[in-house]
Amino acid sequence: MEILSLKGIVLLPVILLAFFGVEASRKSSYNAAEIEKKITVLIANMSLEEKLGQLQQQAGNPWEDLPATPVLFDLAKRGLIGSVFNIRGADKVNALQRAALYSRQKIPLIFGFDVLHGYRTLFPIPLAGAASWDLDAVELSASIAAAEARASGISWTFGPMVDIARDPRWGRAMEGAGEDSVLGSEMARARVHGFQGNDYSRPDKVMACAKHFAGYGAAEAGRDYASVDMSERQLREVYLPPFKAAIEAGIGSVMTAYMDLNGIPASANQWLLRQVLRHEWGFDGMVVSDYFSISDMTNQQLSANDAEAAMYALNAGVDMEMVSTIYFNNTPQLLKEGKVVMKTVDDAVRHVLRAKFRLGLFDDPYTDETLANHTVLTADHLAIARKIAAGTFVLLKNENNILPLSKSIKRLAVIGSLATNQTQTLDFWSANAKAEDSVTILQGIVDKIGPTSVKFAPGCDVFCESASGFTTAVDLARESDMVVLVVGEPKEYSGETASRVDIGLTGRQLDLVKAIAATGKPYVVVLMTGRPLTIEWLAANAPAILVTWRAGTMGGPAVADVLFGDVNPSGKLPMTFPRSVGQIPIHYDYRQPGKPQPVKGVRTAFTSHYIDSPNEPLYPFGVDVKNAGRREGSEVVQLYVRDVAASVTRPVRQLKAFRKVLLAVAEGKQIDFVLGEKELGFLDGNWQWTVEAGSL
Ligand SMILES: *[C@@H]1O[C@H](CO)[C@@H](O)[C@H](O)[C@H]1NC(C)=O
Ligand SMILES: *[C@@H]1O[C@H](CO)[C@@H](O)[C@H](O)[C@H]1NC(C)=O
Ligand SMILES: *[C@@H]1O[C@H](CO)[C@@H](O)[C@H](O)[C@H]1NC(C)=O
Repeated sequence: MEILSLKGIVLLPVILLAFFGVEASRKSSYNAAEIEKKITVLIANMSLEEKLGQLQQQAGNPWEDLPATPVLFDLAKRGLIGSVFNIRGADKVNALQRAALYSRQKIPLIFGFDVLHGYRTLFPIPLAGAASWDLDAVELSASIAAAEARASGISWTFGPMVDIARDPRWGRAMEGAGEDSVLGSEMARARVHGFQGNDYSRPDKVMACAKHFAGYGAAEAGRDYASVDMSERQLREVYLPPFKAAIEAGIGSVMTAYMDLNGIPASANQWLLRQVLRHEWGFDGMVVSDYFSISDMTNQQLSANDAEAAMYALNAGVDMEMVSTIYFNNTPQLLKEGKVVMKTVDDAVRHVLRAKFRLGLFDDPYTDETLANHTVLTADHLAIARKIAAGTFVLLKNENNILPLSKSIKRLAVIGSLATNQTQTLDFWSANAKAEDSVTILQGIVDKIGPTSVKFAPGCDVFCESASGFTTAVDLARESDMVVLVVGEPKEYSGETASRVDIGLTGRQLDLVKAIAATGKPYVVVLMTGRPLTIEWLAANAPAILVTWRAGTMGGPAVADVLFGDVNPSGKLPMTFPRSVGQIPIHYDYRQPGKPQPVKGVRTAFTSHYIDSPNEPLYPFGVDVKNAGRREGSEVVQLYVRDVAASVTRPVRQLKAFRKVLLAVAEGKQIDFVLGEKELGFLDGNWQWTVEAGSL
């Protein structure tokens, strides 16, 4: 066993995070035993219809902030619905809650919403959060998201998404923490703590939901929703640990995945839900399906019809059904036929009611309608969002220290539509964020150095299908001293159902970059993206590349902070940037082949190589670019281990610990990591955790 330690090369930024631990007080007034007793009494009195109602979740409009429909009010009044999502705003939520409390059993509703990385104050996408390697920052961003959401009536978020992603074609890579299970597990823990704290009945916390259980990120060929076939070893070593971490952190709910895992759809997968989740990990929270993922099992050719799909899902242990109503419609008949037993229904109801007790909803089902005004999109939240965003940026390249730019620059050209489009500051999961709240990169630069020295040309629109604006952009570059070129992929190109086979710059953006480069003017590339991109030309030719992901409401000022040196970039890649799509799947912790790999790029016969490409990625996981800056800043210390001989072959190296530390100029710091069985062991051939002899 070798310990490979990557010592950070100091430099840069200082991110002082203020922690606003508003100790709001509201604790569920019942202890665990009392909760179970109350649930037993409730269940004993519930009709079958009322029970099935609790297992049903319906949706309001996700895009517009609308009141609940009459249909939802009617279901709530009759006690035939357990949860609603997408309805938000304390007044709208309270109105529907009042209807639910008018029902016979007076069981409150849980209000859910996709709050992944911010509610109204939008933080960088989760992949960017992982790139910060800053657990405190990620936890803080989740706690602010929780406070804003709960003040708006939301008590349940469908996050964190903890799916490992090793295939950048997959659009939902943006939503997770990248390719590594240790980084992913730590990020999962931080987000759960941020969302829930240690008591999610508090008026500034929400119940979190780990998704998508499990293996969803390994969709075949990177195409969303596609089938997943993987070994139990890969599942247990790579894909499951972040879920386990979320459960150890006390997460209240888990969402199933859409796809089939080794032939059994995740929403029918008894091995996943009963064996691993409940039995091995002892999870006692609620399991919810994904959007139509139960009725979809008929499309997957598992179930012949809705009734069979309901049977599979209930028997597998999916407690709540999202959107479709096939539990409600089919379970009475399934019970009659003995295909589902009442205990299964009662257990599911118990899990739902337990979540409601833990959320404090039986004590206080309503949201204080005056809370949101001084909780949502506050100046404090925006200032924190700016600092956190700047900490996620990754400097891939900085030739001749072209960055940071001088604030006294006379003629600066900003080129690219992504620099000015407020809609593009949002992303697939932007919750209740509004484009008009966002500050763009151009605005951030103008605010930093004043308007007189900055000029803008779009070059093309955000999809960049036409080169008709290139000439104007090139002319602007010619009469400038420096160009900031903002390119990447528009927000429509990542997120759910946004898988791509070509992950280069979209449209004709590379032609635009080449046209600007041909002017001979110095330029820096700001890369806005939701995934790793194939950017071989940029890597070879651009003087500087700063990856800024999708940085949220305050992304623009954060980019300006880094471009002009007020903050040094301290992010590291949480996911490998391949040279080409042909290298995918690609990740740093591969296993060594039996035959050697090329040495110094010399590709001889009978080595493990491609004829037409190096094996190495363009930019690896955890990449460290040396910056000759002379400022204090943050560095990520990463510790990897390698087990050179083991009874099960081990990856060439594995991240085991990391810490982001702040260093003054020329300061050295000793960072101690304690490695134990957990870090040095692995699952042996019989799935037992084992530590074998070796040397350090
Ligand atoms: C529930 O309790 C009410 C009032 O005590 C009673 O009238 C009703 O029959 C009970 N319902 C069930 C299903 O046990
Ligand atoms: C929130 O603030 C706005 C503007 O100050 C005010 O018009 C509105 O009534 C307030 N809403 C609540 C619920 O207090
Ligand atoms: C901004 O981008 C959106 C696509 O997300 C596009 O529909 C819109 O036209 C763009 N706005 C401007 C001003 O270019």
